[in-house]
Amino acid sequence: EKGTYAHFMLKEIDEQPLVVRNIISKYRNEAGEVELSEDIRNAILESDRIYIIAAGTSYHAGLVGKQLIENFAKIPVEVHVASEFSYNMPLLTEKPFFIYISQSGETADSRAVLVQTNEMGYKSLTVTNVPGSTLSREADYTLLLHAGPEIAVASTKAYTAQLAVLAILAADIAKAKGHSVGLDLTKELGIIANTMEVLCGQKEEMEKIAQEYLATTRNCFFIGRGVDFYVGLEGALKLKEISYIQAEGFAGGELKHGTIALIENGTPVIALATQAHVNLGIRGNMKEVVARGANPCTISMKGLEMEGDRFVIPAVHEMLSPLASVIPLQLISYYAALHRECDVDKPRNLAKSVTVE
Ligand code: F6R
Repeated sequence: EKGTYAHFMLKEIDEQPLVVRNIISKYRNEAGEVELSEDIRNAILESDRIYIIAAGTSYHAGLVGKQLIENFAKIPVEVHVASEFSYNMPLLTEKPFFIYISQSGETADSRAVLVQTNEMGYKSLTVTNVPGSTLSREADYTLLLHAGPEIAVASTKAYTAQLAVLAILAADIAKAKGHSVGLDLTKELGIIANTMEVLCGQKEEMEKIAQEYLATTRNCFFIGRGVDFYVGLEGALKLKEISYIQAEGFAGGELKHGTIALIENGTPVIALATQAHVNLGIRGNMKEVVARGANPCTISMKGLEMEGDRFVIPAVHEMLSPLASVIPLQLISYYAALHRECDVDKPRNLAKSVTVE
């Protein structure tokens, strides 16, 4: 039930701190550390490459997951859109391991790939919010998101839950392989949950940003470098889905290779700046678009902020920043849709789970 909320989407955005805390408690061992079960760990340790298969928002979570797994666990990861994989299959390595990411566990495109990889005899894991779902039943292993039912069509809490679970997976495999990840994940996820709470408390500011930048625009660009690029893709998808504003996410450095032609006077460009090693790079990209008349909205992380930034999120571990930085984007999309009088929870042409290929 929605309770006092006008929409499920807003309720589900607000539930994110709780979901992360719930994940910590569900994945915690006796020593109080988050970890995977031994069977899943061993299956992944046996593989020479992970293939992540997903669609939509879950695909975007997969992109961040790749960063986490490659950085922490040092296993190569490829991320593929499910609908392409079946007939556009890359050459597989000798010992592939498949991870299917799906909130609903029912996405037909992802299932079609799972049917194929099962036939090929490859091991698989489904990361899903729905116990007993098709993808969960048909894969060898399941990791649950424990996010509670997600009702709004636009996925929010499932995305952050997917990131948290993938981080746990990445850190667990790293530990098993003897790689230091340079962070105490259980503690950092706790910090993330607190930060999410702070961000969810800043709705008025997000509403203002939505009004300032998105009230009448017909398009909007999201840019970022590194993991911020992936979060930008998700921000753009959220905005498109529920506000019908044409939105696209780009790697900061790629804009100048064509898309910058679309920047006009007043075009909103939302930049994420949460990564120290590319902070100057993304700032440079923002200057390029501002010089062409863009209306810049930089969302940075504390410690990397610069004059003129529109919003600063509290500092969290860089590798986990998507769990925090996506929240302002979700809220901005929500308010943009609200003010444009769109049906936030049930956007046109969309269904909660896509059960056709
Ligand atoms: C985005 C959205 C869709 C889904 C996609 C995959 O807000 O709802 O893009 O993310 O259809 O769905 P699942 O995760 O259920 O496989």
